Amino acid sequence: MGKINAVIKGIGAYLPEYVLTNDELSRMVDTSDEWIMSRIGIKERRILKDPNLGSSYMGTKAVEELFAKTGVNPDEIEAVFCATSTPDHLFPATAAKICNNVGIKNAFAYDIEVACAGFMSALYSATNHIESGRHKKIIVVASEKMSFMVDYTDRTTCPLFGDGAAAVLVEATEEEVGVRDIILRTDGSGWSHLQMKAGGSVCPASHETIDNHWHYVYQEGQAVFKAAVTNMADISVEIMERNKLTADDLAWFIPHQANLRIIDAVARRMGVDKDKVMINIEKYANTSAVTIPICLWELEKSLKKGDNIVCSTFGAGFTFGAMYLKWGYDGDKI
Ligand code: UT7
Repeated sequence: MGKINAVIKGIGAYLPEYVLTNDELSRMVDTSDEWIMSRIGIKERRILKDPNLGSSYMGTKAVEELFAKTGVNPDEIEAVFCATSTPDHLFPATAAKICNNVGIKNAFAYDIEVACAGFMSALYSATNHIESGRHKKIIVVASEKMSFMVDYTDRTTCPLFGDGAAAVLVEATEEEVGVRDIILRTDGSGWSHLQMKAGGSVCPASHETIDNHWHYVYQEGQAVFKAAVTNMADISVEIMERNKLTADDLAWFIPHQANLRIIDAVARRMGVDKDKVMINIEKYANTSAVTIPICLWELEKSLKKGDNIVCSTFGAGFTFGAMYLKWGYDGDKI
């Protein structure tokens, strides 16, 4: 028997219907479409309005679409990893609720909380489980209700984020396709620059934490911006060199969608032409762990078996990473 590889065999996604535009934001805080477009590159974002619905709702919708597209039976799934930093509850895992909603009964399931790097981290775990030979079918689902932790009175953070979910089916194969390489790193010295200050075991909820808006995203934008450009560029170049890839070998470069200026700077460092860089930040903003699988979902129909794709991510922690995929199926045949 040859080496077992892990390959993505299908993608589902869910984006809430409500579209929050820059014009609407401009009526909530002192900002403008012109400022947001020129400094970040976002035109609108999707928001899950219902306060009684959370990440498990969107993750469930994404997995349901994945089942419908692939025809896979819930009983065949052996593990579910949910990448989220906006879980329904601190415990139990959002992954458990998703399993219950979609009828997955033979799997073990847990959440992976690595903020924007969550999808890549969860896919790394799934890949290792599959390459070990222990499991054959795993779902990686990323779901984020960022709007629940966005302060819509703070103009420095409220334009940045959106809600959404996406799920991939990861299977074992002996073909030379799938996840070829992943590099992940954490620089914990950056933890305080991007965080939620209260609501955890440090600084539990109190009147004071609510009055001070400490249950929302806190970000020191420029520190995060600089670290994002440097680390995403370095790790993307590292994965290209380690796999002897040149920009010409790539069908797509898929960067985390946090800021168009970060994306442009990283692509320039890698020498990748703009027409090979997947960008959809203008429609969905930063959906944290979900940006990369939403890009794959949007590209799916145009992808061909054997396409080389490099993805790169950066987020709170700081945690950052890059991965090299050799795409596993012709998307137009789905
Ligand atoms: O996914 C996790 C990783 N996150 C990121 O990668 C985000 C990284 N950071 C960024 O993308 C950028 O730092 C931001 C988009 C968050 C901010 O852009 P910036 O160019 O770094 O702006 P700044 O924070 O230096 O602010 C410049 C000015 C300030 O005004 P003063 O002090 O110069 O008068 C801000 O108050 O822009 C002001 N400003 C705004 N003005 C209009 C900040 N936000 C807004 C706004 N509308 N929404």
